Amino acid sequence: MHPLRQRTEPPTIAEIEEEWRRRARRTGLGPVMRASQPAELAPAVTAATRGQVAGHLDRLSVLLGRPLRSALEIGCGIGRLTPTIAATAERVLAVDMTEEMLARARVACAGLGNVEFQRRTAQRLAIPESRVDVAVCVWVLMHVLDDAEFAAACRGIARSAAHLVLVEYTDAAVPVGRYSRLRSLADYLDALPGARLVERGELCYGGDVSFSALIALDQP
Ligand SMILES: C[S@@+](CC[C@H](N)C(=O)[O-])C[C@H]1O[C@@H](n2cnc3c(N)ncnc32)[C@H](O)[C@@H]1O
Repeated sequence: MHPLRQRTEPPTIAEIEEEWRRRARRTGLGPVMRASQPAELAPAVTAATRGQVAGHLDRLSVLLGRPLRSALEIGCGIGRLTPTIAATAERVLAVDMTEEMLARARVACAGLGNVEFQRRTAQRLAIPESRVDVAVCVWVLMHVLDDAEFAAACRGIARSAAHLVLVEYTDAAVPVGRYSRLRSLADYLDALPGARLVERGELCYGGDVSFSALIALDQP
């Protein structure tokens, strides 16, 4: 293939999976952090992300007037945020596209008795009989590039969960590469059936900006 075609054509699903298998071999927080950012920023950004996710989950628990019973983590990666979710929800199902990420997450979360890991993609979630209280999805849907796959993922999330904690890039200091696609919070709210914004925060990472949001997924 001509090298220019290689760079401009969107990656296939097989190429995307191979890319995440490759990234899973990086050390430390490297598999899930942006390679264009200095590695020394990763711990503080991770602490801030855990804080944002915990804040949204606590707010949801207050709104429901009870502890969270069930959570679905979509694209759990190396389990960076899984303990934060498991500290708030009674049961957590954490899924990821690749076995390589899941293997690292299982090791990182070995002490957590309320977490189950399974290989699934965001666009092919097996729909549970009753919706979980909350799905948590951090820096994952920005990697679902294709419009039809993105719409399928959003429909599946709304059928699987009554609420969504979503963190995704809106602006990037260094332009994103061919495995990422920036969308606005409004784009996500349009694509998620029944979406209603409950609260919104912001996460800055070097010059990169992500929104964080608690979204109710109302059923028609
Ligand atoms: C940037 S990492 C974020 C991981 C984790 N959410 C975190 O914040 O630490 C993206 C993760 O999503 C997974 N992923 C990418 N596309 C996916 C998809 N379509 N379905 C499920 N997982 C996906 C990758 O394997 C990777 O583990």
